[in-house]
Amino acid sequence: MKFPTVILVLLVLSKSVVTTNYDLITATSNLIEHLQLPVQVTVLSCWSESEKLQFWSGLNSFTSVRFFTENQVNLPWNDRNQHQNLLVIDAGCSKSKNLLRSAGQLLYYRVKWIIINNKTSKCEQFLKFFDNLQVLISSEVYYICEENGVQGFAIKQVYRLSLTTELIEETFGFWNKGVIVNSQFSKYSSVRRHNLNHYKLRASIVITHNETVNHLEDYSEKHVDAVTKSNYFLTKHVAQDLNATLKFSYVNQCWETRARE
Ligand SMILES: *[C@@H]1O[C@H](CO)[C@@H](O)[C@H](O)[C@H]1NC(C)=O
Ligand SMILES: *[C@@H]1O[C@H](CO)[C@@H](O)[C@H](O)[C@H]1NC(C)=O
Ligand SMILES: *[C@@H]1O[C@H](CO)[C@@H](O)[C@H](O)[C@H]1NC(C)=O
Repeated sequence: MKFPTVILVLLVLSKSVVTTNYDLITATSNLIEHLQLPVQVTVLSCWSESEKLQFWSGLNSFTSVRFFTENQVNLPWNDRNQHQNLLVIDAGCSKSKNLLRSAGQLLYYRVKWIIINNKTSKCEQFLKFFDNLQVLISSEVYYICEENGVQGFAIKQVYRLSLTTELIEETFGFWNKGVIVNSQFSKYSSVRRHNLNHYKLRASIVITHNETVNHLEDYSEKHVDAVTKSNYFLTKHVAQDLNATLKFSYVNQCWETRARE
């Protein structure tokens, strides 16, 4: 009875080999090549030398790569070319979650991220990893994961409308043996994320005459608070385009006291 047990163990081992870091690392460098962004790539991880080499060898020679540990001092806080930064995080490394929590606005402003996770590489579980992270609507966060019925990996993006609303996932495409199929119609999140599902946006209306609040839509007294009245229509159009709702607050001319909520 010893023999089958050995075979079983080997089978289990070889199954877990599929999800080792090496495939995920290759998929990550393939994705970076595929995105064709002019980037400074920084890997913040606990990777071994051979994992780093694996990653580096998947990139072309024009892409510059730096390797650091997952410490927040290594984030590009003061980089003049912050918008060119693409950070790679391995969520399987113990300090990664803390690093992402401390990243503040870097998580949704200018910096792009690719996150892999060899511990929970199933897409559904992996999504939960972002639960308390500030991946707001302007973020560009990719994650690579295993999805049922998909050979290789799915490449997804995640965002949320506010810190208290649920996570929304987008499918960027699929990776299999070095080939990426992109199923997304635009690589710009600002073009794609156009449906705020009636999320309430705040907007201010600056008035010099109290009567203005009664004449925002009726085109009367156009010379009074003219800029306010035209901006009001613009704001409404933008909100409509984004499928958002608006909560206006009224501010009187000197910007100090709120005339009316
Ligand atoms: C996940 O990756 C980390 C970093 O390379 C490594 O220390 C860990 O052993 C890996 N875990 C698995 C299950 O492959
Ligand atoms: C706008 O959001 C509402 C609420 O979530 C949703 O029911 C509706 O389908 C959305 N409209 C569009 C055009 O996406
Ligand atoms: C405008 O409304 C505010 C608050 O309701 C009030 O304090 C202020 O006196 C009003 N100004 C005029 C010119 O009516």
